[in-house]
Amino acid sequence: MGEEIKHEKIYPLGYEPENTPDSSDPNIRNQLIDFILKSGPSEVIDTDLFAVMAKRRSTRKFSNKPVETTKIDKIIAAADTAPTAGNYQGFEIFYVKSTEKKKLLVDACNKQPYVNAPVVFVFCKNPSRVKLDFPEHILKKFAIQDATLAAGYSQLAAQALGLSSIWIGMFDEQKVMDVIGTDLVPSSVLCIGYPEQTKFPKPRRNLKDLVHVTW
Ligand SMILES: Cc1cc2nc3c(=O)[nH]c(=O)nc-3n(C[C@H](O)[C@H](O)[C@H](O)COP(=O)(O)O)c2cc1C
Repeated sequence: MGEEIKHEKIYPLGYEPENTPDSSDPNIRNQLIDFILKSGPSEVIDTDLFAVMAKRRSTRKFSNKPVETTKIDKIIAAADTAPTAGNYQGFEIFYVKSTEKKKLLVDACNKQPYVNAPVVFVFCKNPSRVKLDFPEHILKKFAIQDATLAAGYSQLAAQALGLSSIWIGMFDEQKVMDVIGTDLVPSSVLCIGYPEQTKFPKPRRNLKDLVHVTW
């Protein structure tokens, strides 16, 4: 007879996914992420990655419609599928739920009012997780990249789920850290919700100006 599995919660207090596996073993990696990513959406979603990319447009006006927990779960799980340096996951996600803290974040983010959005995530760098034998400045660089990629994956996931988002890079790092109560430095704030209005994507420069072919 094998050892009895201790059924512990595999998510933090205050964030409870809508659907969870019948039994959960904290020692089994990716169990909850896989379950969330594979579980059916509550609504039709766009599963064509390129269509999602082609349609994505930042939103600064969110409707009051609350975002379903199943969607929030998928956005968080999507972040956790991003590649990270050495797979050390040198980042953390702070899920800001309280209205008071969202208001304080508005102030910390250069008074950008749309930071008070239905769903607010602060992606922070955590270089101490990156156990690679490189100098500190390299580990910090990896942590920025880890946190940024993860937020980018979440942004695309939000779009695929019929939501919209705004990426906030303009903030006072220390003020944001004070609001969320951490000594980890934030890399971006991702604000998500249903857009008041669906807009066309913004123009980009011509690919011929973007790509520099080096032979
Ligand atoms: C690194 C970075 C920092 C940004 N910071 C802000 C910000 O502080 N406030 C804001 O309103 N938008 C911010 N944005 C959103 C950009 O303005 C937006 O992505 C850009 O105008 C392109 O529009 P699109 O996302 O609809 O394609 C930021 C985006 C990035 C990638």
